[in-house]
Amino acid sequence: MSDFENNVNKEAEVEATLGAQDFTIQQEVDDAAEAETVATVDKGGDATCADDQAEGSAALPRAPKNIFDKVFGKLHKNTAKLEFPQEEPIVHDPDNLLEVRGLRQYFPIKAGFFKHTVGYVRAVDGISFNIKRGTTMGLVGESGCGKTTTGRTILRLYKKTAGQVLFDGEEIFDMSKRELRHFRPKIQIVFQDPYSSLSPRLPVAEIIGEAVREHNIVPKDQYEEYITKIMKDCGLPEYYKERYPHEFSGGQRQRICIARALALNPQFIVCDEPVSALDVSIQAQIINLFKDLQKQYGLTYLFISHDLSVVEHISDTVGVMYLGDLVEYAETDDLFAHPAHPYTQALFSAIPVPDPKTKMKRIILEGSIPSPANPPTGCKFHTRCSKCMEICKHRVPPTVNLGGEHYVKCHLYAQEQADDADNA
Ligand SMILES: Nc1ncnc2c1ncn2[C@@H]1O[C@H](COP(=O)(O)OP(=O)(O)O)[C@@H](O)[C@H]1O
Ligand code: SF4
Ligand SMILES: [Mg+2]
Repeated sequence: MSDFENNVNKEAEVEATLGAQDFTIQQEVDDAAEAETVATVDKGGDATCADDQAEGSAALPRAPKNIFDKVFGKLHKNTAKLEFPQEEPIVHDPDNLLEVRGLRQYFPIKAGFFKHTVGYVRAVDGISFNIKRGTTMGLVGESGCGKTTTGRTILRLYKKTAGQVLFDGEEIFDMSKRELRHFRPKIQIVFQDPYSSLSPRLPVAEIIGEAVREHNIVPKDQYEEYITKIMKDCGLPEYYKERYPHEFSGGQRQRICIARALALNPQFIVCDEPVSALDVSIQAQIINLFKDLQKQYGLTYLFISHDLSVVEHISDTVGVMYLGDLVEYAETDDLFAHPAHPYTQALFSAIPVPDPKTKMKRIILEGSIPSPANPPTGCKFHTRCSKCMEICKHRVPPTVNLGGEHYVKCHLYAQEQADDADNA
């Protein structure tokens, strides 16, 4: 019996509900915030298996056969396999709070009557980076390049497809249910849209305090004082406690979201476009709040944004993503002074410069972003790159170290280094 079937048989609470519209089969798994739908069958009998993702390079487990085979007969003929290069186990450096190697997150694409897996959206396609304690890594790239999926996979909100994620030296995907309960409060997320992530029916104090009580963050007699302090540190006066989210502006609502995350005493916060929905004047205030809280509480951030100027202000290091790949990674000053990857150069050339006398040489990217379900061969950027060479069309570029912590995934630099080695 496979692990997956075991999981379904022994641990999972399988819940079949016959709704007015659809028939869904759900299971509660240790790493999911809510019961996961493992299958949906519509009124016409069309079955969709929700979970075809596997960890590592093993054959993809199909939907739970013991349920499906009994109920619907043998549905799955497809035995699609995903093979990935084996990564060396990470050697943990205590300076790093987060260490990621070869992380992949593929979403299955279903087709046909029985919704067989016919391919994958390669949202995150083998990325590696470290984040040092008390620092901020910015993650930039155009919409759809995999930034949010990276953040959510690190939080273990998705099962990874492959790769390693060490938080404080511990592999988060190896954690037991009990370990996960301790881990959850340590790593929080702040979203782009502060309104939809706040319950409209709860007053501010309850929004911030609900999980504090659940996780016993402070003794009962210190609870009120604790919430007041967290609110004050986030720029929210005490008299806001009894008010409701709709009474606040976007900036204040984002402060409430930040306070809710901070109240759980986290070590790490994924900030997913936290200022993108705010007016420019408010953006600066919220960024300053993030910076102040980082100093005061020793926080570590992964700061996701499509806006390079925002990332420049808050980040110590920056990763640039394109179609699921981390194409460049460097310390912020280094990256902004010497962008190396042709994609980074094009992104940077689009940043508006305040001085009208400075003429910008804007690099216009030709063509649209290819689909992550069917990315170009070789270098994924080759269809839009002005420096594309023949090798780029066929061979995946290696990640090259340009010195210090500056890495770039591009054949130009791999060739340069090979030429230097030949001439030496
Ligand atoms: N739950 C999902 N199921 C299927 N595809 C998804 C899912 N979430 C994201 N994607 C796809 O993965 C790619 C990366 O998405 P995302 O991580 O949201 O990008 P970004 O945050 O950089 O805009 C996109 O092509 C998106 O459509
Ligand atoms: S590997 Fe080739 S196509 Fe890709 S960014 Fe570098 S030069 Fe351009
Ligand atoms: Mg996103």
